[in-house]
Amino acid sequence: MTALTPRRGVSPASDTPRSDTSAVRATGLRAAFRSVRAHTDALAAPLSPEDQVVQSMPDASPTKWHRAHTTWFFEQFLLEPHAPGYRLFDERLAYLYNSYYVAAGPRHARPKRGLITRPDAATVAAYRAHVDAAVDALLADEASLAPEVAAIVEIGLNHEQQHQELILTDILHAFSENPIAPAYDPEWRFRPASRAPGAVALPEGIHTIGHQGDGFSYDNEGPAHRALVGPVEIDRGLVTNGDWLAFINDGGYDDAALWLSDGFAAVQQEGWRAPGHWRQEDGRWHVVTLGGLVPVDPDAPVCHVSYYEADAFARYAGRHLPSEQEWEVAARSGELADAFGVVWQWTRSAYSPYPGFRAAEGALGEYNGKFMINQMVLRGSSLATPPGHARTTYRNFFPPSARWQFTGLRLATFPT
Ligand SMILES: [Fe+2]
Repeated sequence: MTALTPRRGVSPASDTPRSDTSAVRATGLRAAFRSVRAHTDALAAPLSPEDQVVQSMPDASPTKWHRAHTTWFFEQFLLEPHAPGYRLFDERLAYLYNSYYVAAGPRHARPKRGLITRPDAATVAAYRAHVDAAVDALLADEASLAPEVAAIVEIGLNHEQQHQELILTDILHAFSENPIAPAYDPEWRFRPASRAPGAVALPEGIHTIGHQGDGFSYDNEGPAHRALVGPVEIDRGLVTNGDWLAFINDGGYDDAALWLSDGFAAVQQEGWRAPGHWRQEDGRWHVVTLGGLVPVDPDAPVCHVSYYEADAFARYAGRHLPSEQEWEVAARSGELADAFGVVWQWTRSAYSPYPGFRAAEGALGEYNGKFMINQMVLRGSSLATPPGHARTTYRNFFPPSARWQFTGLRLATFPT
C-alpha cells in the first residue's frame, strides 16, 4: 500500500486513484498495518531529533508529535477497548498525544506541542514499537476479528496516512521559516503541470454525489445524494505559477476589489505578496520546497495558496472556482488533468454536512463532523498524499486562510 522509503521526487499523478481500502483489503489488515506504520517511520527518518521537535506555528505539529499521536490513536481506540490484557506504555502519554477528542479526556494545548522535548525521540520510537507489537498480535487471527474492530483498524490506518501528509507539510513550513531553507530531500522536484488545454463541459443534470459502495470512506463523504450540477465548464488544467506571476505583477495583492473582505484583511495582516514559502532572491521569486530553495518554475502548478487567494485569482481571471459537486462530476469523467497527486484544489464550497449526515456515536464521531463550520472544501489529492489515500469523493477541508498545505486551484466558467 505504501512504499517503505520516503517518496523521492513526485510520483505520476493519476486521474483514477486506487481506493486505499481496496489495497488494505487486498493485502489484509496486518500487512497494511505494518506497511503504513513503516511508511511513517520512513518519512521521519531523514529528520534529526532537533527537526522532529520543532513547531513553527500553532497549526503545524512536530514530527515527533505526529509519530506519537498516530500511535496513541491505536492505543486509545483499538487496544484499550479491544485487546484484553493490553498494558499501557505510559499512562501520561494520553494527555500529551490526544489531539482534539473531548470524549477521550483532557489534552495538552495544541500551540504548545513544540515544547514537549520529553519524551525524547527514542522513547517515542519505543512507544511505537510497543503499540505495533500489540496490534500485530491482535491482528494475527484476522478472520476472527469482529467487523467493528476491523473498522477501527481501517480508520486508524487512514488517520495515520493523513498525518503522513502533515509530517511533510509541517516540516516544510518549519524549513521555510529557516533562513538557510534546508532540504527534506535534495532530490525532490515539483513536476510541471500537465499540458491540458480546454475545459470539461458539464451540461445541467442531476448527479449522485458522495461515496457509494463497500470501500472505505470517511463519514463526511456520505450519505450519497442527488444534486443539480451545471451547466459549467471546468478547466482541464491547473493554474500555474506563470499565471500567478501575472497576478502579482498586475497588482493582484494590492487591489481590494478582487478580494473578499476577510481575504484582504488577511493580505494586510499577514503581509502576503505571493504564495506561501515564496521568497525574493536577487530580484527573482524563489520558493522553499521539500527539495530546498529553488527558482519559481512558471510551468509548475501554483501551490501554497489560501482559499482567499484562490478566490481573488478567480475574480482577477473573470472566472470562478468550481463547487465540490462540479469538481466531483468532472473528475469522475476522467477528463481532468492533474486531478490527483499534484495539489489539492480549493472549491467554492463551504464544508458542511451532506443531506442526512449524522456523525458516528462515541469519540470517533468527533473525527469530522464537529469541524463542519468556517472551513472550505478541497478536492483531489497532493504530491504529499500517501499512495492509495485518494478518492473521487474525498473531502479535505481547511480554514480559508490556510496555505501551508499543498493547495492550488483550477478555474471554472458558467456558460452564458
Ligand atoms: Fe489525528
